Amino acid sequence: MEQKAKLEDIVGLAKRRGFIYQGSEVYGGLSGTWDYGPLGVQLKRNIMDLWWQMFVAERDDMYGVDAAILMNQKVWQASGHVDTFTDPLVECANCKGRFRADKLDNPNKCPTCGKEGTFGEPKQFNMMFKTNVGPVADESSTSYLRPETAQGIFTNYKNVVDSFYPDLPFGIAQQGKAFRNEISPRDFVFRSREFEQMEIEYFVHPDKWEEAFEHWVEKCKEWFAALGLPAESVHELEVPEADRAHYSKRTIDFEFDYPIGREELMGLAYRTDFDLSNIERVSGKSMAYRVKGSEEKFVPHVIEPSFGVERALMAVLVSAYREDEQNGEKRVFLALPEHLAPVKYAVSPLLKNKTELVEKAREVYHALKKKHGNVMWDDNGNIGKRYRRQDEIGTPYCVVIDFQTLEDDTVTVRERDTTVQNRVSSVELVD
Ligand code: GAP
Repeated sequence: MEQKAKLEDIVGLAKRRGFIYQGSEVYGGLSGTWDYGPLGVQLKRNIMDLWWQMFVAERDDMYGVDAAILMNQKVWQASGHVDTFTDPLVECANCKGRFRADKLDNPNKCPTCGKEGTFGEPKQFNMMFKTNVGPVADESSTSYLRPETAQGIFTNYKNVVDSFYPDLPFGIAQQGKAFRNEISPRDFVFRSREFEQMEIEYFVHPDKWEEAFEHWVEKCKEWFAALGLPAESVHELEVPEADRAHYSKRTIDFEFDYPIGREELMGLAYRTDFDLSNIERVSGKSMAYRVKGSEEKFVPHVIEPSFGVERALMAVLVSAYREDEQNGEKRVFLALPEHLAPVKYAVSPLLKNKTELVEKAREVYHALKKKHGNVMWDDNGNIGKRYRRQDEIGTPYCVVIDFQTLEDDTVTVRERDTTVQNRVSSVELVD
């Protein structure tokens, strides 16, 4: 009996089991911020490591960078973010509530106080968090928390070309935090004010952007499969010109069937030479690329696959969430792909007060931990309870050391999805 996950199922499990907590919860929270607990940070890291493996380490046309979050304000002036990185905001004259105008269910009715006709004309609200760098707070020290990681890539484009002189096409990849002062953060981590991106700027000859775009459509699909997202839950939306970001000539949004509806999972954009040309104009430094062995010179164009970590993680949890019945009892489990599961194995002695079993179990636990890292010791409650607990956090295998182990050195390995138990030699298991 499989069942579609509801948002409250995911949020409840995430909190109960130590994946994701509300940010600053002990002080009443801070809207739009989330903290990752021990299992959440591991799941997030597994997702980010898989991305780095697939898109950087395994390719020979990709260069990784890790740029500073705080950047010279000229970056955001040149990129257009200071002028245009805005959402339309309306304020209710009655309760002073502020809302994103394009996300209201009823544009005439305040969702907080219920009054009608209290909104004035929408104002453009810039979503960048502004700060000052250094002890003097004036215009010249203004900086922003980056609203996208992409600009840290563009500003290092020339450095990478000077150091490595790669052939076109090549990409620069970066993972890291991004910050947006969203007017209405909502839907768990889906729309947060602090989140993480994994972005690639893929530099191409201006005539070759279309083939590179198609290449990245396919690579994105491979990524969704590696995350365990069912192909039928992911949809491609060709974004019409009026809805595209100011820098894009073509955008596909990949949308996912979240419990909150079909919403954007990630974007793929053709950013032309918009960013490099702006850097050239504002910095006065040439961003031209010279094709090796020829005099041909031009500013490369860019295809940008932009992945949001939180939205990927939420899609992974939704796709993995299952409910079934075992021995007449409801069971909740996460059918996570093995390579993403935060805990790979849980190891238990059948009885925790039998020294011989505990000693042997410790031995197996340490050997597995050495091999896989993320292995959990679990001797709380009876075996049934341990299985349920591990199922809920998506642990693919539970290993139990029992009296037969002491005789023939075999252990029980119980599989999460099928609940099938097999006896396996402990030597083979840890080998
Ligand atoms: N560099 C291009 C760029 O930033 P975007 O469509 O604004 O494009 C890319 O953002 C991705 O970042 C989104 O598809 C989404 O996955 C993620 N993202 C954007 N805003 C977010 C937010 N407030 N909370 C969580 N993820 C967000």
